[in-house]
Amino acid sequence: MKTTLQLPYQLKGFLELGDAVIITDSHHIILEVNDTYQTITGFERNKIIGLKAGFIKSNLTDQSTYTSMKTSLKQLIPWSGIFINRKKSGELWHSSITITPFQIGEDLFFIGIFRALEQLEEGLYLSENKKIEVQRELLKVLAISCEIRDPGTEEHLIRVQELTEVLIKAHNKKNNLQLEPNYINNVIHSSILHDIGKAGMPEGILYKPGALTSYERKIIEMHPLIGADILNKMSKEINYDFIKSMEVAENIILYHHEKWDGTGYPFNLKGEEIPLEARIVSIVDVFDALTTRRPYKDSWSKEKALTFIDENKGKHFDPSIAETFISLF
Ligand SMILES: [Fe+2]
Repeated sequence: MKTTLQLPYQLKGFLELGDAVIITDSHHIILEVNDTYQTITGFERNKIIGLKAGFIKSNLTDQSTYTSMKTSLKQLIPWSGIFINRKKSGELWHSSITITPFQIGEDLFFIGIFRALEQLEEGLYLSENKKIEVQRELLKVLAISCEIRDPGTEEHLIRVQELTEVLIKAHNKKNNLQLEPNYINNVIHSSILHDIGKAGMPEGILYKPGALTSYERKIIEMHPLIGADILNKMSKEINYDFIKSMEVAENIILYHHEKWDGTGYPFNLKGEEIPLEARIVSIVDVFDALTTRRPYKDSWSKEKALTFIDENKGKHFDPSIAETFISLF
């Protein structure tokens, strides 16, 4: 949409600011940008005037940021937030922006003033990628330290995480579930925590070769509850933004041994009562356990384990996720 509006002289002073400045009409069509904007983004003004200001979006900014921006600006209230845009070079540009609506006569304008977050003092801001990286590492350390007694643990956890990533993405695509990228990432990161409750299990039972007594089985079946307890204690202690949202992790820890037909533990949940994230990790966890050799058991071949999953779909496993899983091989 081209605009016929000219930049009013009252707004020209904003272009002299040292920060990157963009001025748009009421439809967010760019009327003018200043030199700093051009230097930082690499886009020349005459190539971008007339474009929508969002042409620079990276798709990494949370949708909720745009929603809150639109809500404020519609009511002519200035808005501030954080955008992750993409420079001409392809590099990401994390910036804090304040957008101020300006009514001049009949016409409405928006002035956007950016401040690059990379310029802020170190420690004040973590980019989204860095945040994800830190979260991933933190959860991995926690998971491994809880299960350090078993030498094969680290490899098992990493394989579970990798397979969870492949499965959830494939299942989302195949069934057009339109799962939020944030949710998908959360499931992938949290999958590594599924067995943290094993930290509270006596070794003699955990690695006992052969059959367990019913008493020993009862103890093992407590590991989801103990795991959720560990997670809750930890998230109370560490109150950083990136581990605040622990619901997905808690669901995986609590429900990864529930079965589709209601015969699992600890709550005998049935079908879709079991959260999706737990139904996904359950299949991956069983598959990896079956195909891995442990001191107390032999490994199964991939084919045999897949047959097991196929035979148990609708019993142990969500039939639709089981089908997606089998189709991956
Ligand atoms: Fe488990």
